[in-house]
Amino acid sequence: MSKGKTSSGGPAEHAQPSTDGGAGSANSGGLELRDQRTGKSAILPIADGTIRATDLRQFKADADDFGLMTYDPAFMNTASCRSAITFIDGDKGILRYRGYPIEQLAEKATFLEVAWLLRRGELPTQAEYDKYVHDITYHTYVHENIRKFLEGFRYDAHPMSMLCSSVAALSSFYPRAHDIFDAEQRNIEIIRLLAKIPTLAAFSLRHMRGLPFAYPDNDLSYTENFLSMVFRMTESQYKTNPVFKRALEILFILHADHEQNASTSAVRAIGSTQVDPYSAIAGGIAALFGPLHGGANEQVLLMIKEIGEKKNIPAFIEGVKKGEGRLMGFGHRVYKNYDPRAQIVKKLCYDVFEVTGMDKDLEIAIELEQVALKDEYFVQRKLYPNVDFYTGLIYRAMGFPTEFFTVLFAIARTAGWLSQWEEMLLDKEQKIARPRQIYIGEPERQYEGKLLKK
Ligand code: CMC
Repeated sequence: MSKGKTSSGGPAEHAQPSTDGGAGSANSGGLELRDQRTGKSAILPIADGTIRATDLRQFKADADDFGLMTYDPAFMNTASCRSAITFIDGDKGILRYRGYPIEQLAEKATFLEVAWLLRRGELPTQAEYDKYVHDITYHTYVHENIRKFLEGFRYDAHPMSMLCSSVAALSSFYPRAHDIFDAEQRNIEIIRLLAKIPTLAAFSLRHMRGLPFAYPDNDLSYTENFLSMVFRMTESQYKTNPVFKRALEILFILHADHEQNASTSAVRAIGSTQVDPYSAIAGGIAALFGPLHGGANEQVLLMIKEIGEKKNIPAFIEGVKKGEGRLMGFGHRVYKNYDPRAQIVKKLCYDVFEVTGMDKDLEIAIELEQVALKDEYFVQRKLYPNVDFYTGLIYRAMGFPTEFFTVLFAIARTAGWLSQWEEMLLDKEQKIARPRQIYIGEPERQYEGKLLKK
């Protein structure tokens, strides 16, 4: 992303609009402030389109005052870090990983190439890539006790719960993972996580279906091996439909990172305590599970099922406008324009449906999108389809059950989480994440009650 520019289309970019997301110079100058309570004035430096929140602390109501704070629930206008990984311009619908447009990566790259790029900042050479693929391939197996651990879940356990707990459990298998400032150790754990996440995910699905676990096949690529672990039955080697293989590769690339979203912020916050990466990534998976985040792709299909017929769309849209529910897969905190990932996914839908045959739910989704995009409610609020609107339809056409969609998101996002986690660890400015609060409770009062009986 830009050196010295706030990604996401927040005020910093409005202050100094840029289309390059990288070449523009940092904002400079100052913000003159005067505290009407005391008459104190000061000029706060502006750098990268931001002021330092701690610079406000010099404004105090009196000598005992802690100093002025900012109040920003849900971090609507607060940059929590400096990051060189992902650039988003929400107003223009731009997404870039390390400067490369998402459209180019989706067309030409492999997921593991993107995973390398996100972490290392540059595309791998052939030799680097070959070694990386080899290392990841040879870490795909998990300890047999993890298999037993997964078998302990109820048959109807949600696969996100299984994934979250099994990733957290991996921490107990690798005690050296706590050496987070040892670069070599960190590298091993990052490789392990990228390698084992598809295995854990596939095992969760097999458990859900009551099928024996299919072990990794090291002769296959990352995505093919994953599909093999999910779908393989009695065949000696699983053969993937090339359209499905490429579709999954593209979907993994699109989901690999998205700068400071809820789950990435969770990973960074948990990681800031200097815990091991398995525990931090488990926290990211938990945050992703929510229906407003990664869980939305599952909700889109449930919504389409509820609509049932194209003729019911107008009534459904009216209900959304009355606040009876949300149009899932629409809207985004950052994109106030078409989510660039959604454009790619929509096209991918047609490729996949050419193989599987057209689907009634896709027809409903297309019509729903058209109706919403013309409706004043959505137009005024700049609500466009996000990445989750069409992904579920592709996943289902490929044979994945609805509950599994967010797991697919989590596999891909692990690459971004790990890159962001490591960037945070190596950032000298970062400390343990610890927001402030505005206390609105009771003032001091005396405990005068009697001891309560059991
Ligand atoms: N359907 C109907 N109304 C909506 C929607 C929607 N999907 N999204 C936002 N709005 C309305 C909202 O009611 C509010 O209206 P008003 O100003 O009248 O109160 C206005 O638009 C602004 O919404 P907001 O909730 O303040 O926006 P936000 O930035 O806090 O929320 C969001 C972003 C993604 C949580 C939200 O758009 C949403 O709930 N979308 C549906 C869930 C979804 O698709 N999530 C996936 C996000 S992309 C992938 C990912 O992050 O994992």
